[in-house]
Amino acid sequence: MTSNGTPVMLALHQTALGGPEVLRPTELPRPEPGPGEILVAVHAAGLNPTDFKHRAVRVFLPPPPLTLGWDVSGTVVETGFGVTLFRPGDEVFGMLPYPHGAGSHAEYVTGPARAFAAKPAGVSHVQAAALPLAALTAWQALVDTADLRAGQRVLIHAAAGGVGHLAVQLAKERGAHVTGTASAPKHDFLRELGADACVDYRSEDFTAAAEPYDVVLDTLGGQTATRSVSALRPGGVLVSLLPGAEDTAAAAEKAGVRAAVMLVEHDQSGMRAIAERAADGRLRAHVSGTFPLAEGATAHAQAETGRTTGKLVITVR
Ligand SMILES: NC(=O)c1ccc[n+]([C@@H]2O[C@H](COP(=O)([O-])OP(=O)(O)OC[C@H]3O[C@@H](n4cnc5c(N)ncnc54)[C@H](OP(=O)(O)O)[C@@H]3O)[C@@H](O)[C@H]2O)c1
Repeated sequence: MTSNGTPVMLALHQTALGGPEVLRPTELPRPEPGPGEILVAVHAAGLNPTDFKHRAVRVFLPPPPLTLGWDVSGTVVETGFGVTLFRPGDEVFGMLPYPHGAGSHAEYVTGPARAFAAKPAGVSHVQAAALPLAALTAWQALVDTADLRAGQRVLIHAAAGGVGHLAVQLAKERGAHVTGTASAPKHDFLRELGADACVDYRSEDFTAAAEPYDVVLDTLGGQTATRSVSALRPGGVLVSLLPGAEDTAAAAEKAGVRAAVMLVEHDQSGMRAIAERAADGRLRAHVSGTFPLAEGATAHAQAETGRTTGKLVITVR
């Protein structure tokens, strides 16, 4: 409790932008749920590249103080005015509104009820926390944006990473032929996920495929986006998660390809689709590391190497 009786919590907090060392476990007032919001006791919270990017430089958020974290899995403690979907005690997982809703790297967080779905009973909080942002990104890219269909050919860049390894599983479930890029030691992992073909981006040219792709999920942007245009058939779709290079739009227009840059959105129907698939095992997060909240800085440093296989998760309770 603070001196005026407000409950407190521990949060991975920063008062300046910078390296992982700016992250400090800090006592802060526990948030209260506003209208339409739920207060969640965080059990586990996924870590995404956007966390270390926002920690280091100003992107979409106001300057520090900041508590980052968009992924959450936990237990509803309190509901705000008008919430009918959840009750205290419910186990939920979700992605807080991106970008302004961050704050899950803490013991408690609030967010709109409709950013969450019920956590499947057979899925652990660590597994559930690894899914929301990365799986929603894959879902919104492949299903909502590209309308990926059975029999189509899709190329997924960085297929062993957080977004990529979930995108491979979703694309296979839709009946697509999936090619993933990764360094050679990760090709067995891609095949276990269901990938039909693997490209070692360090030694092979992904544009040299015998047949063009219908869809490319580009997690890298820049020149990878432009080069991906040439791997697509006319009428194909390039979905990039980072901006392309200066020449990407012109290359796409010339090739008759749709080039879209996508930003993930909180999305209850997407979360329900993810929950259904996690419940029956069609979608599984590969968690390659967990870190207690107090070691959040170490988690950031590891994530920032860009070599993560699957996901890293911060454990809170
Ligand atoms: N726009 C949006 O809404 C949105 C949403 C989610 C993510 N993103 C962005 O998308 C990117 C990927 O996110 P993520 O969570 O999947 O990242 P991640 O988990 O950190 O990705 C790590 C993986 O990237 C692979 N990789 C690195 N360089 C590569 C290259 N040149 N070609 C192929 N694979 C490569 C690594 O494999 P190796 O070890 O084999 O190199 C590693 O397995 C990030 O920049 C993130 O910020 C954007």
